[in-house]
Amino acid sequence: MRTQASTSELRQTDVAPRIGTVIETDVDTLLSGALAQDIRALLEQRGVIVFPRIGLTDEQQVAFTRTLGRIVEEGEGGIYKVTIDPLENPNAEFIKGAFYWHIDGTTADVPILASVMSARRLSPVGGDTLFANTYAAFDDLPPQEQEEFDQLRVVHMFETAQRYVRPEPSYDELRAWQRFEPNVLPLVWKHRSGRKSLVLGSTASHVEGMDLREGQALLTRLRDHATQDRFVYRHRWSVGDMVIWDNTGTMHKAEAYPADSGRMMHRTKLEGEEPFA
Ligand code: SIN
Repeated sequence: MRTQASTSELRQTDVAPRIGTVIETDVDTLLSGALAQDIRALLEQRGVIVFPRIGLTDEQQVAFTRTLGRIVEEGEGGIYKVTIDPLENPNAEFIKGAFYWHIDGTTADVPILASVMSARRLSPVGGDTLFANTYAAFDDLPPQEQEEFDQLRVVHMFETAQRYVRPEPSYDELRAWQRFEPNVLPLVWKHRSGRKSLVLGSTASHVEGMDLREGQALLTRLRDHATQDRFVYRHRWSVGDMVIWDNTGTMHKAEAYPADSGRMMHRTKLEGEEPFA
């Protein structure tokens, strides 16, 4: 279903009922900051915004990101290269964790607000990015479950996410993962706006105070629930596309692609503004 609204500067089209909007605009308008407030509001409502083939340079992507908030200083000049080619990124092995549903920053108390990612080179196979709306997933739970889950707390661990990629780590590898302390987060995030979202993903290890197997079954059932087609947008990239996602109200993952595929994404991030609560 597509619904369309337009002004002289901005044409927007919803690509799925519960998540994802395409904005068509030009580079100068984007960099002027004139749309920044509208983009922030839309991001919170729709979770994902796509700028098809906008073709920003690295400098323009950094400048655009700065119009939206405080940029995270990482990579070269704010640009982090998302690739699983070890020749291009020494942390390539960790990046394979992106093949599983996750929220960035679950080992911190204040996760990043959003990521901005643009496609520089594509993989001939795989490499789509999928996003799931965790506000909508909470909203669609039966009221009794919403109440039941409201006070549950979940232990998140970096090592839990890494085991998806490397199920049999060496002792040294495991100890390196364990340098990130476990973090206990609410299952239901009560945002300052009054909205609620589910906090799930590959770092979620178990539910505090619940039988281990029952807690893991619950987390798996909720992940299945939150990643049903009706909450998900799959972005099939073209070179030059740029996508922003609200890391506080979505989960995301990359469809697996080969290490030598050449896939290269350039990412900037916005600092978090609200702790998990
Ligand atoms: C990420 O998880 O931040 C990257 C997703 C992707 O490479 O599509």
